[in-house]
Amino acid sequence: MKMRAAVLEEFGQPLVVQEVDIAPPKAGEVLVKIHACGVCHTDLYTASGADPSGYKPCVLGHEGAGIVEEVGEGVTSVAPGDHVVTLFSPECGECIHCKSGKTNICLAIREQQGKGYLPDGTPRLSRGGEPLRHFMGTSTFAEYTVMPEIALAKVNPDAPFDKICLLACGATTGLAAALWKAEVEKGSTVAVFGAGMVGLGAVAGAKLRGAERIFVIDPSEKRRELAMQFGATETFAGGDDAVDQVLARTDGFGADYTFEATGIVSVMGQAVEAARMGWGLCTILGVAGKGERLEIVPRFLITGRKVQGGSFGGAKGRTHVPQLVDMYVGGELELDGFVSHHITLDEVNKGFDLMHAQDGIRSVIMFE
Ligand SMILES: NC(=O)c1ccc[n+]([C@@H]2O[C@H](COP(=O)([O-])OP(=O)(O)OC[C@H]3O[C@@H](n4cnc5c(N)ncnc54)[C@H](O)[C@@H]3O)[C@@H](O)[C@H]2O)c1
Ligand SMILES: [Zn+2]
Ligand SMILES: [Zn+2]
Repeated sequence: MKMRAAVLEEFGQPLVVQEVDIAPPKAGEVLVKIHACGVCHTDLYTASGADPSGYKPCVLGHEGAGIVEEVGEGVTSVAPGDHVVTLFSPECGECIHCKSGKTNICLAIREQQGKGYLPDGTPRLSRGGEPLRHFMGTSTFAEYTVMPEIALAKVNPDAPFDKICLLACGATTGLAAALWKAEVEKGSTVAVFGAGMVGLGAVAGAKLRGAERIFVIDPSEKRRELAMQFGATETFAGGDDAVDQVLARTDGFGADYTFEATGIVSVMGQAVEAARMGWGLCTILGVAGKGERLEIVPRFLITGRKVQGGSFGGAKGRTHVPQLVDMYVGGELELDGFVSHHITLDEVNKGFDLMHAQDGIRSVIMFE
């Protein structure tokens, strides 16, 4: 079948929207018609050529939501007509990691996914008879995608696609980190470094958990204003004295929970040091550059602080994403404020420009 898709042809160049071929789903795979897809930093990072594991040509995109069109042999958990959110982080439920219940890092399809192929080692994408690789196992900057069944979260069909697509990556990362990875306690004090989609998700998650005080540290005034809408109780610009600012507000002790959502290693260090002596838990969510290192003075650990991190905020996609969608439909969870621009697939590069300019939080590509 022919479809339109945004192809990464050359690193550092605009994506090229064009017609490509997509093959039907094989055993265990599903054809999904994409209805909405967010434009995320990771797409830009790969498109820029900065990601050392990046490859081309491929179809980018990983923050998708849509409707199942066709299922391959043996697929039982989704059926045509089901609404789904795409997952770059699958949940097979059978590998040693999934069975442990301790991690969301499913081992089922990692190797082939990292190379740009579906689990059988081949792509379903091509053009002019030449194979074209997938990206993050999702390739959702396209009218259709073929994905493994284990990488689709079946969700409440009452939810609008332009909001729930954000749960495929950015929004879930911060939310899940606060709700389930850190398990923020009612009445606690939280400090969130960085108020992009990830940090704002952590703010929303901490609020849902009943945190009493939520500090947000971000140099951008616009982002600090948004943070107040998402539940921050105090915000400040941060910088070199960010740790002191948190200590000054907590009788010199630090916050019960800190979240880092900037990708800046020095800020990760601040998030560790701003965590409370005795039990402060620091959750690192930002993605640092290759080769960068985080330095921690051991005394901070000896005196009881803990440090953790989580890809996708530790969310188990097929378990947690449907829960978040239900919370959104039930009015418990705010997602609308994240969507700043609706664009078309042809405007995908504009989505990157808006991100560069820090104009709004998320651009969402709408199909048809
Ligand atoms: N763990 C995961 O699975 C996962 C998933 C998605 C994104 N990420 C990563 O999370 C990070 C945040 O993503 P995002 O989409 O929210 O990015 P973003 O660029 O929208 O937000 C980052 C924010 O950090 C702020 N900032 C800059 N310098 C700061 C400082 N010194 N102190 C405090 N704040 C500062 C910026 O003003 C901005 O508002 C990125 O590194 C991204 O790659 C991780
Ligand atoms: Zn992403
Ligand atoms: Zn698994």
